Amino acid sequence: MLAVANAMAYYAKKFNEDVEKWYVTGLLHDLDYEKYPHPQEGGHPYKAIEFLKDKLDEESLKAILAHASYTGAPRESLMAKTLFAVDELVGFIVAVALIKPDKSLNSVDVESVKKRFKEKRFAAGVNREEIFQGAAELGIGLEEHIQNVINSMKEISNQLGI
Ligand SMILES: [Fe+2]
Repeated sequence: MLAVANAMAYYAKKFNEDVEKWYVTGLLHDLDYEKYPHPQEGGHPYKAIEFLKDKLDEESLKAILAHASYTGAPRESLMAKTLFAVDELVGFIVAVALIKPDKSLNSVDVESVKKRFKEKRFAAGVNREEIFQGAAELGIGLEEHIQNVINSMKEISNQLGI
């Protein structure tokens, strides 16, 4: 959640958007996942939306709803597109860092991330198609997007412990 939050803040700065709002949306977007991981109505992310509806604005709520493709909610705002684009990629980059000898983001570069995409058994729970789709929807080249997310994660490597 911290990594997604910081990636959101990184892009908010880049796009001249509200950094704090984007950070908070990233931080909270999966808050119901541990208790209600099920996608059916009433589970993730619907529970989070219900809980946050008086606390966040419409744009943030819509972005949280739309980060889960199965909701069918359209990703219209730049914030929604960014959340979708960074979410799966952040998890994947954590996995790439953890298999490095030093278990550190310092050893992760764009090439090492791209190489692992092709290994189906590696971080098998991460949907590669969603990562590619996310970058495309955001209108940023895949390599540039991976680099941006690595940069954002490196800013808080101490907090992440990798
Ligand atoms: Fe999620």
